[in-house]
Amino acid sequence: MTTLTTPDERARDTEQKLTDDERFSLIISLLGPASIVPRDPRIPADVKNVSAGYTSGIPRLGIPALQSSDASMGVTNPGYRPDDKGATAFPASILVGSSFNPQLARKGGVAIAREARIRGFNIMLAGGMNLARDVRNGRNYEYYSEDPWVSAVMGAEAVNGIQSQSVISTLKHYTLNCNETNRHWLDAIIDPAAHRESDLLAFQIAIERSQPGSIMSGYNKINGVYASGDPHLLNDVLKGAWGYKGYVMSDWGAVPDWDYAFRGLDQESGIQLDVKQWGAEAFTDRLKAAYSDGKFPKERLSDMVRRILRSVYAVGIDKWGPAPAVDMTRHNEIALEIARQGIVLLKNDGALPLATDRPLKIAVIGGYVQQGVISGTGSGAVSPVGGFAGVIKIGGAGIMGGLRNLFLFPPSPLDALKNALPQAEIDFDPGYTPAEAALTAKRSDVVIAFGIRVEGEGFDLPDLSLPWGQDAVIDAVASANPNTIVVLETGNPVSMPWCDKVKAIVQAWYPGQAGGQAIAEILAGRVNPSGRLPITFPASLAQTPRPELSGLGTPWGTPTTVRYDEGAEVGYRWYAQKNIKPLYAFGHGLSYTTFSYSDLKVSGGETVTATFTVTNTGKIAGADVPQVYLTDAPDRKRMRLLGFERVELAPGVSRSITITAEPRLLAQFDGVAGRWRIAGGSYRIALGRSTENLPLNAAAQLEPRVFGE
Ligand code: GLC
Repeated sequence: MTTLTTPDERARDTEQKLTDDERFSLIISLLGPASIVPRDPRIPADVKNVSAGYTSGIPRLGIPALQSSDASMGVTNPGYRPDDKGATAFPASILVGSSFNPQLARKGGVAIAREARIRGFNIMLAGGMNLARDVRNGRNYEYYSEDPWVSAVMGAEAVNGIQSQSVISTLKHYTLNCNETNRHWLDAIIDPAAHRESDLLAFQIAIERSQPGSIMSGYNKINGVYASGDPHLLNDVLKGAWGYKGYVMSDWGAVPDWDYAFRGLDQESGIQLDVKQWGAEAFTDRLKAAYSDGKFPKERLSDMVRRILRSVYAVGIDKWGPAPAVDMTRHNEIALEIARQGIVLLKNDGALPLATDRPLKIAVIGGYVQQGVISGTGSGAVSPVGGFAGVIKIGGAGIMGGLRNLFLFPPSPLDALKNALPQAEIDFDPGYTPAEAALTAKRSDVVIAFGIRVEGEGFDLPDLSLPWGQDAVIDAVASANPNTIVVLETGNPVSMPWCDKVKAIVQAWYPGQAGGQAIAEILAGRVNPSGRLPITFPASLAQTPRPELSGLGTPWGTPTTVRYDEGAEVGYRWYAQKNIKPLYAFGHGLSYTTFSYSDLKVSGGETVTATFTVTNTGKIAGADVPQVYLTDAPDRKRMRLLGFERVELAPGVSRSITITAEPRLLAQFDGVAGRWRIAGGSYRIALGRSTENLPLNAAAQLEPRVFGE
């Protein structure tokens, strides 16, 4: 008897032993009982840890039930498990992206996976990594960046962290799921070669660096074809050109037609939603009929099952021993570490850090900060241990309207500020009216005004403004007291009409359950901020590729077409191409110390290698994120982030850094040949601290070559 070793061999061997009914049972998952569907009788009554997806196992062959949960910010529980005491609510992925620290993404992934394991979840629907193409996209908080390299590197490490705990992770949503407006009826139009150089390149690199057990296909169409049934993107690109060996699961309610198995989909998720949404038992009954009529070939059914089994074996969810113990105190520390590193200091005219050696009179205004920090909404929202400090229902159209709430995580920033500034006399004003807030501001030495905006799945923002009249409140307090600091808790860039009136601006994103503490530590100078923007802040929507978002505001269910005519020129790439100066640039973030760059040397050949020295020229320790960019090329002028590295330095210390660029970032994709092409010649390389601050540059000679797929 030969011992089967590789996941491929084991999958092939097991698949041959299955009955057809067992095969069909593996290619679907059932949504657990939640607000939108009752408990499905096909989920055994003794299964308590239900959540997003349940696929029955095959005990006789050692195949466990496949139980999936959301996701990137922690183990969610929007009502599936009333007895669940709550999970660690980690910061939003956009904040993880702001840390530019892949190892931190990995650390968060490990912790999330451990909290999944003790609940019996062996699949995490994590790895949300769509590019932040549109600053109105309600789900950008669940993604890392506007840049393919940042998104790929961060997404891959999050997946590696999760899968290191023998929990399968997805990467999602494949692909171009970059707006929420009528997402099930949205057709994303893009030039195919540009698609390969942007969103697809992000997935391609992330897959190479993490081998996710599954890829989740998104709701939208791409160039007229639904993502879950697109043979070109699923078979030709993902499984063909890239050689992906895992399985493609659909998003929940993303399979409008039963024959998607023929087009590359391997598992239909939450099948009750397809029945609800599209009116057909999309996969099983009709596929079985086609199978018995000989129209659905056995080989394809076996391939679907083998892919699923291969991931089961590759990640080891069939070999679980006792779940590793979970240290929730340690997980809170990780959530705090992430928040500390991902909060971005956008502006500081000397107002920060606050003086802690004298009794300041501080007005803290708005943002419900007497209760907690806010979170994003939708399937990724986490219910923290001990529950929310407050929940205010907001509502809205579509199936995600019921999950659109102002969630507040304790501890409150107000309490955290009182702890961090014991000498200060702190007044809280709810920011209920501009006039009332201005009176509080007027009698204070310093004002800390919070601006919050709830964003989430199923909704795009109509514009960049803060809701509930907060811009007027901030303007009023800044007029009453110029010593005003603004702290934002949003999932996207916002417009800042009061920007010139305030002394400092901090972007705290959705900082997770330890966010209140991290905000207070940064304001009080106990933590030196080091976050950098992974998404450009435009001065207005007029600067963006789509000032008007087609379909925005149309009734849920209206077919919508969004043309991503910027192609691969997403975010900073667009601003560089159009020579537009944004409000705050990609890569921007201030520190309480200063850094200098020197000795930039670049070499060419097959790719670009840059070496340089970073020095902390200030008086306190801090972290910097030097960035290396392509700023011009012989074939077409374009800007591309080629690499970055987060480096922590004590005062006066220097560090030499070497960054070697992923060659596909320097290349253009030849859609006809299906290959990457680097033109020979001189490439302009720049080193700096944002796309608008590039003090050093040099040229590298690259050899012409055609490579890869
Ligand atoms: C949701 C989301 C997806 C999530 C899935 C399961 O609608 O689009 O990201 O993982 O359904 O909740």
